[in-house]
Amino acid sequence: MNAGALPVPILGERVALRPFRRPDLLHVIGWRNDPEVRAGALWPEGAFGAREAERWLRATSRARARLTLGVELRHEGRLVGLTNLSGIDGGSASAHFGIVVGDRTCWGRGIARETLGLMMERAAAMGLRRITLEVARDNARAVALYERFGFSTDRHVTRRHAGGLVPLAIMSLRLSR
Ligand SMILES: CC(C)(COP(=O)(O)OP(=O)(O)OC[C@H]1O[C@@H](n2cnc3c(N)ncnc32)[C@H](O)[C@@H]1OP(=O)(O)O)[C@@H](O)C(=O)NCCC(=O)NCCS
Repeated sequence: MNAGALPVPILGERVALRPFRRPDLLHVIGWRNDPEVRAGALWPEGAFGAREAERWLRATSRARARLTLGVELRHEGRLVGLTNLSGIDGGSASAHFGIVVGDRTCWGRGIARETLGLMMERAAAMGLRRITLEVARDNARAVALYERFGFSTDRHVTRRHAGGLVPLAIMSLRLSR
């Protein structure tokens, strides 16, 4: 399954989901180094500067089993986050979902909710039937977002992250045709 076969940007009422470009990397570096964003996103603690960002851009633009898009506020043309489908597997018609609204001034305005809806529509259009994700159990904002959308918790696990053990929920959503 080729993640790039359908057109981008994906346009919603308030957000446009579009590919990343090199000038976006300063934003990505800022989000990666924001402790609150990084903790929610379960990103690793290591250094993330210009070199790592370039590597990230190359890796995400080339990967066929992955669709990574920037979340831009349509009417301001401002990049505020990223979202992805990874591990896209045509055989099992499944993928993992991720979202980060890196600009904290935008939290609580429904940006993630709209983005999630658009990404699930895209996933269904790609022929995917099951979407999974991992979320820290204490990430109330994210858990509420996913539950409200219809994801349910399959199981709880504990993962080593940032020098500690983090209780996670593995959630999934079945997409209808
Ligand atoms: C989690 C995250 C994506 C949510 O983004 P957002 O744009 O603020 O989310 P929305 O405004 O669409 O709100 C989604 C839901 O969160 C819930 N919510 C909002 N504020 C909340 C709060 N303070 N506490 C608990 N739940 C809250 C609401 O249920 C809301 O749904 P509603 O508007 O229908 O009531 C964003 O906070 C983020 O990027 N955090 C850091 C990275 C991260 O945690 N990513 C998820 C990894 S699994």
